[in-house]
Amino acid sequence: MAFGPLWDDKLSMDGYGVFMTSDSITRLTFRRPDDWHVHLRDGAVLTGVVPYTARQFGRAIVMPNLPDPISTVDAARAYRDRIVAAVPEGLNFTPLMTAYLTDGTDPDEVARGAAEGVFTAAKLYPAHATTGSAHGVTEVANIRSVLERMEVIGLPLLVHGEVTDTGVDIFDREAVFIEQVLAPLVRDLPGLKVVFEHITTAEAAAFVTGSGPNVAATITPQHLHINRNAMFAGGIRPHMYCLPVAKREKHRQALRKAATSGSPKFFLGTDSAPHAVGAKEAACGCAGIFNAPFALESYVTVFEEEGALDKFEGFASLHGSAFYGLPVNEATVTLEKNVILVPAQIDANGTPIVPFHAGEELGWRYLG
Ligand code: NCD
Ligand code: ZN
Repeated sequence: MAFGPLWDDKLSMDGYGVFMTSDSITRLTFRRPDDWHVHLRDGAVLTGVVPYTARQFGRAIVMPNLPDPISTVDAARAYRDRIVAAVPEGLNFTPLMTAYLTDGTDPDEVARGAAEGVFTAAKLYPAHATTGSAHGVTEVANIRSVLERMEVIGLPLLVHGEVTDTGVDIFDREAVFIEQVLAPLVRDLPGLKVVFEHITTAEAAAFVTGSGPNVAATITPQHLHINRNAMFAGGIRPHMYCLPVAKREKHRQALRKAATSGSPKFFLGTDSAPHAVGAKEAACGCAGIFNAPFALESYVTVFEEEGALDKFEGFASLHGSAFYGLPVNEATVTLEKNVILVPAQIDANGTPIVPFHAGEELGWRYLG
């Protein structure tokens, strides 16, 4: 993505660019982006949420944490078919599937899924760390042979990076995970590609920056917009609750710096995680923020505030595919400066869901 001359209201020479008027940027045209971390669920809700992701993104890494986790090649293939069936006509969207790792995962099954083009990555959920992680890994040592095989075949490991010890303060669980699990893992298996998913701390950003090229991270829109105070603004705010939980302001600032730095180690992963409004507004509300409907508008707002619109295409459309070794998307998309109002609620094929930024105005409109 390149800046055009100040007076240019046409595409820049390479076909992509930042449209500018004499006083400000009014349009951004860039390669179609990808979402490197999304939850699409299943059944009726799947049909309701897929169009939002497919509208904005060319591809998405689909998380496997269904109630019956996607841990085999056959299950992933069938789930992929259900997702593809939910993509509206005329949208060009490819779901990229992940294997849910358990203590009993067979390295041969993961390798076969990769060889057959079904698995793009495998996901490590520490058992009981988050929604749908009950079947996750209890000790990383239990999947050692799987990780060694992944290192050999070049299949990326996607990590939910939180310790599950309830004796560790919830706001410290990511930083402790780096010390206790991730740093030793990266040291022991230096050839393993690792994506530290939805990072939320300055420690995580520093760890990724200081690691070799095999270590990267996704960053969500919510962790760029909110700090932990948002969960308690005038009362308990369940729609601001996700895992890993938002941290102090200094961490949000560190994430904004990382995302807008231009470093190829940081890329877009929404962690869009829809839950029915009743499951969020409850005595024990579910973790997860549904940000898919206005994901690009949300992210670009941050890049604009940081004076880093020229770094947006890298973060959204180039760094992730480079890390995964996939080609960039051919098509382009455009965002224009224009006020939009995010609805208070969205009907996902019969399930009411409160989206991120509900009831707020955003200053960009996605044109497709
Ligand atoms: C995710 C979900 O609901 O599936 N929730 C969340 O808060 N992010 C799971 C996850 O990614 O941790
Ligand atoms: Zn997630």
